[in-house]
Amino acid sequence: MDVESRKVIVIAGGTGGIGRHIVDGIVAAKKYTVKVFSRQDPSSLVDMTVKGVIVVKVDYADRDLLVKELQGVHTVIVTLISLDDSCVQAQINLLNAALEAKVKRIAPSEWTGHHDENTVIELYRRLKVPVREKIKAAGIEYTVFMIGLLMDYFASPQTASKSIGSLVIGVDFNKCVASITSSGDEPFCLTRADDVGKFVAAALELDKWNENSGIVGSRTTWNEIIKLGEKIRGTKFHVQYTSADEAARLIDTMTDNVLEKLIHQVYLGIVRGEFDFEATLNNICPEIKPTTIEQFLMESWTDYQG
Ligand SMILES: NC(=O)c1ccc[n+]([C@@H]2O[C@H](COP(=O)([O-])OP(=O)(O)OC[C@H]3O[C@@H](n4cnc5c(N)ncnc54)[C@H](OP(=O)(O)O)[C@@H]3O)[C@@H](O)[C@H]2O)c1
Repeated sequence: MDVESRKVIVIAGGTGGIGRHIVDGIVAAKKYTVKVFSRQDPSSLVDMTVKGVIVVKVDYADRDLLVKELQGVHTVIVTLISLDDSCVQAQINLLNAALEAKVKRIAPSEWTGHHDENTVIELYRRLKVPVREKIKAAGIEYTVFMIGLLMDYFASPQTASKSIGSLVIGVDFNKCVASITSSGDEPFCLTRADDVGKFVAAALELDKWNENSGIVGSRTTWNEIIKLGEKIRGTKFHVQYTSADEAARLIDTMTDNVLEKLIHQVYLGIVRGEFDFEATLNNICPEIKPTTIEQFLMESWTDYQG
């Protein structure tokens, strides 16, 4: 396909942890013109421009600029996020500009499970639900990409990806310990960031998006993950279980550390089934074989020397 007739895809916040994997997945498809919206100067993002990505410096409060830069754009994928509410207004401004520029479809910054207005995860209630509601009400074609937990974190303290930092969630494969909320038998989904990029690129080929696009590397439980860890690390893990009620009480006492609170609310979200969903996009794209948790843990921890 000649460059002129390629569909233009915007990734707003494509400079971030997940965004970079999505940009790479779409670039690898070699079918699209990829534009990243960033508040940063393009000269500081040479690693992106060398791949042929067009970096556009935007101010999400500048509606005219957004409308201008969205002219002729087919799809907007949003991966921007902040801990404060500014990312909500940025996404709403982007949505309004996309409507004015007649963009065909948009994917809000979800990239997690299925969380409605009653989600136990406060940050999602504040930052994700209101944007989704606006998009639904606007009548534009959209999809909510669900990926579960990022598998990449399960390599911590190593990093499985250049753009995703290390973060121990639930199981510490280095120290061979785990801290689990509830029984550890509740199923949840997790996906490697590279595979998210591949599935999003494949979704761009679909004529029509469903409201939800479930991407699943593995559907598993904490206890199954611990069992795999024990097999690969060759030792029994010390596991501490906390009841969901006790975990909820503990969360109420966490006032200052936003990330700690988020992680503990995610544990509760897993107990409530918020990270368990159908692999709907896998079913549509059977040619993509995502990394399973067993493959990922083997890759990260076999022969680990600490
Ligand atoms: N499922 C999981 O395990 C998991 C894990 C991590 C993240 N996520 C989700 O994935 C999405 C992306 O997260 P991430 O960790 O990849 O994001 P991130 O790296 O923290 O941020 C992505 C980009 O957002 C832009 N940004 C930051 N503050 C902004 C603001 N106030 N207004 C506009 N843009 C702003 C920045 O781009 P510029 O500076 O270039 O403008 C940044 O590079 C989020 O929806 C997050 O909830 C899911």
